[in-house]
Parts: sequence; structure tokens; C-alpha cells
Amino acid sequence: MTRTLDPELRSALAERVRYCHEMGIYDFYWREPQLSPRTDVEVAAFAIVSPAQSELKEEMAARKSAVTSPVAEGKISPIVSLQTEHGVADPVAALKLIREDLGDCTRCKLHKGRTKIVFGVGNPRAELMFVGEGPGADEDTQGEPFVGRAGQLLNNMIKAMGLRREDVYIANIVKCRPPGNRQPERDECETCSPFLMRQIATVKPKAIVALGATAAKNLLAINAPMSELRGRWYDFKPAGSDRSWEGARLAVTYHPAFLLRDPRQKGEAWKDLQMVMKYLGIVPPQKATE
Ligand code: URA
Repeated sequence: MTRTLDPELRSALAERVRYCHEMGIYDFYWREPQLSPRTDVEVAAFAIVSPAQSELKEEMAARKSAVTSPVAEGKISPIVSLQTEHGVADPVAALKLIREDLGDCTRCKLHKGRTKIVFGVGNPRAELMFVGEGPGADEDTQGEPFVGRAGQLLNNMIKAMGLRREDVYIANIVKCRPPGNRQPERDECETCSPFLMRQIATVKPKAIVALGATAAKNLLAINAPMSELRGRWYDFKPAGSDRSWEGARLAVTYHPAFLLRDPRQKGEAWKDLQMVMKYLGIVPPQKATE
């Protein structure tokens, strides 16, 4: 039986296929619609499974409303089916492959104003990963995330946890500096996120800390105030990542740049980091006593 797709659906599907090809995914399988409806949150931003028509329609509707969806019981596993660096056991080599795929990226308009692509830095086997919003001026010049004033504060936060910057992995939602440090736009985040997802699936951290609302909203595909996003764990596992990896737990805290503007919130951020430390079994360093 021949079925025709409505134009909106066809265009969404074409976009999805293009996106999958970009990720190195060429095989698609038909899946019967699920009986139990998925939540808005589950079908949001990063989903690149090849859904049945009904699911795609559902997803398109969800995408229109997903950003206002409430958090479902604090547990979110984004359905991200992506080509991880299968067969490349060494995360150093896998990250190199991802960087090579990224190339001299011109996939979104952010490339026009950038000096350097800010890929990510740190321990390729880190248990803890921080994800910020996007490079600022210093990062754009140096090609490394969080090297400016906010970066100094992030370094201090890491140190306060009893870790060194080299112990963790640091990346951003977008890898090129948005002009004038504006927030990255949705299409820019969506274009860049597959690379971040591959980085996460390669590093396989136990915990991810989303720095600020932009990082949190993009990773979790929910639009909620920081007061609701913080203080809880979210399950996070890019689908398509190794089965042997159980996924990460994701926590949200304030962006260091926000803390520079409102240092009174540092205590709240410390609470978030303590939650992370507890999960990772990190005992905070003792303060030297006089
Ligand atoms: N702010 C971010 O979100 N990321 C950086 O790398 C620097 C500042």
C-alpha cells in the first residue's frame, strides 16, 4: 500500500535523515508505534531515532511544546540514538575522531564570527563532566572552554571539590562563540549537540553538571526555572552509547558567570556540588586549620 506523507511531516523526516547522516547513521528500521505514550520530555530535542509517522507527528507537536514541559519525576533519559565511536575503545582516539568530524565546521551561522572552535578539554576518562553554554571572548581566542573570568571561578569550584581541572572534562553546548556573547539559538544548539552527545558517550562520565539554565535546558530539553532544575538528579544517557555504560547522572547548578554577578548564590551552587561529590564519593579537602 502506498502512503503519502504530508509536506510538514516529509520535511521533518528529511531533516531527521540529514541529521542522522551527519552522525554517520545510515540504517533505519521501522518501529511500530508504542502503546504507552511517551512524555513530552522524552521526545524532545535530541531524539534522532527513526520514528514511525505517528511518533514523528507526536514529536513535532511535542517539540512545539516541549520547552514548557514539566520535569517528570526528575528522571529524564533523552532518546538520543547516535553514532558513537563504536569500535574505538580508546577515548582519546574517539575524541580525536569526533574532532576530525567536526572539522572546520560551517554547519551553523556561529562559524562566521568565531576565531577558534572550542571543542572541549580535560580527562577523556573523567568521572565528572561540566557543560557550559558557549565560548566567550577569551575561549574564542584560546580555543579552550572556561579560560576567562568565569573559567577561573569554575576552576575554584572544581578545586573546592577536591579535584583538579585536568581530572574533569569540560565542554559547551555550542562550540563557537555567539556574537556579543548572546545566548546560542535553538538551531545552533541543535546543530552542535550531536558532537557534544558523542563526546559524552565517549567520556562516559558518572556525573554531568550542567552550568546554567541554557546548558540544562538544552541537555534536558525542558524549560523550567533554575529553582526547579536544581537540587535533583536526572538520568542522562545518549541512546546509541555503549550498552555497558549505565549512563550519567546529571545535576544542574548556576553558571559561574552568574555567580560572578551574584556571589550570594555561591552557597547554593556549593550545595549542588556537594550533591555531586556525595554521589561520586569525593570527600572535600579539609581546610587548613591555624
Ligand atoms: N561560558 C561558557 O558557558 N562557556 C565557556 O567556555 C566560557 C564561558
